[in-house]
Amino acid sequence: MENVQKRILITGGAGFIGSHVVRLFVETYPDYQVYNLDSLTYAGNLENLRDIENKENYHFLKEDINDANAINSLFKECKFDSVIHLAAESHVDRSITDPLVFVKTNIIGTLNLLNAAKEQWKGDFENKIFYHISTDEVYGTLGEEGLFTEDTSYDPNSPYSASKAGSDHFVRAYGETYGLPYIISNCSNNYGPNQFPEKLIPLFINNIIDKENLPVYGDGKYTRDWLYVVDHAIAIDLAFHKGENKATYNIGGFNEWQNIDLIQLLCRLMDKKLGRTEGESAKLISFVRDRPGHDKRYAIDASKINKELGWSPSVTFEEGLEKTIDWYLANKDWLTNVTSGKYQEYYNKQYK
Ligand code: NAD
Ligand code: DAU
Repeated sequence: MENVQKRILITGGAGFIGSHVVRLFVETYPDYQVYNLDSLTYAGNLENLRDIENKENYHFLKEDINDANAINSLFKECKFDSVIHLAAESHVDRSITDPLVFVKTNIIGTLNLLNAAKEQWKGDFENKIFYHISTDEVYGTLGEEGLFTEDTSYDPNSPYSASKAGSDHFVRAYGETYGLPYIISNCSNNYGPNQFPEKLIPLFINNIIDKENLPVYGDGKYTRDWLYVVDHAIAIDLAFHKGENKATYNIGGFNEWQNIDLIQLLCRLMDKKLGRTEGESAKLISFVRDRPGHDKRYAIDASKINKELGWSPSVTFEEGLEKTIDWYLANKDWLTNVTSGKYQEYYNKQYK
């Protein structure tokens, strides 16, 4: 597929991971036309793409994937030959408060895209691909031992992960039933610049800056496998170009941390960066009511994408965390803009 003139639709490109994927594709493939489709929910922010917005091969389409007619028209007009689908409601806590919006965007929205691609490509699937970005949360939770492989059964526990699992099933079903070429990748927890401060790392960075409480759910002994967002974007690029039709790839950081250990590390690094005395930020830690249905441990076995496509993380956790903290400290306006207005309502409802 390399060096083919492509018209790629990337959905959710104004969000956290999507903006890194859009940047990578726009910069790496000047011959491709990259269409970023995003409805700009609270999580979408065009500030994330200011550095590339004037490039000739970049186009922004403000549209909602729940609007089937609009999506069909865009497929006709722009003649996309590939889709990288990241648009989603992505925050587990919000899915507990309002599951329906997750079903609408993550399942119905995905179906609208699948239908539009099927209709536009009309059985001519040469050099076409529907690449669906999923999560390790569809596999449910692990005990102390073991890793999620591509063969692990789906067993989602939150409305978010159930909606992502539903969308994965539909993508596969369209492959089996209509022959639509697809790839799915299931990735672990991402962190890095431009992540909305509702997720653990940016939320805690923001609260440390403001000397606000750090709300640790339950006993803090939950484990996540952290990956620097640019490494996820690189894996997506590889799987998109070299992955096999109907393949699933697990992507992870080989980097498990219990929340409380990660938070202590973050506090130490932030104390140094902010010129505070050691231990000052850790005093902000407060253990709060646990998340309902909280998955104990996620950990990815990424050996398939490593062996077949030669991918492995390029950034160590220490480097990535430092880059991330530096980015948030250098972009306080970005943080201030996204945490004004509606964010305060969300924050008070969730934590106060
Ligand atoms: P995000 O919440 O930061 O961004 C989601 C983007 O989708 C936003 O720009 C938003 O405006 C857009 N969007 C939401 N609803 C839409 C709709 N109806 N129509 C059009 N656009 C809409 O999410 P993220 O963390 O960047 O995650 C991106 C994808 O990667 C999601 O599919 C998520 O499930 C998956 N994923 C995320 C992680 C992670 O750690 N963040 C890990 C694995 C997989
Ligand atoms: O594993 C991939 C998933 O990672 C993605 O599919 C999701 O889109 C993404 O949001 C993320 O889900 P998590 O629920 O793991 O991420 P979150 O940052 O919300 O929480 C990480 C851990 O930190 C989790 O164990 C809950 C805990 N936590 C989170 C918040 C927001 C706290 O203790 N306190 C908090 O305030």
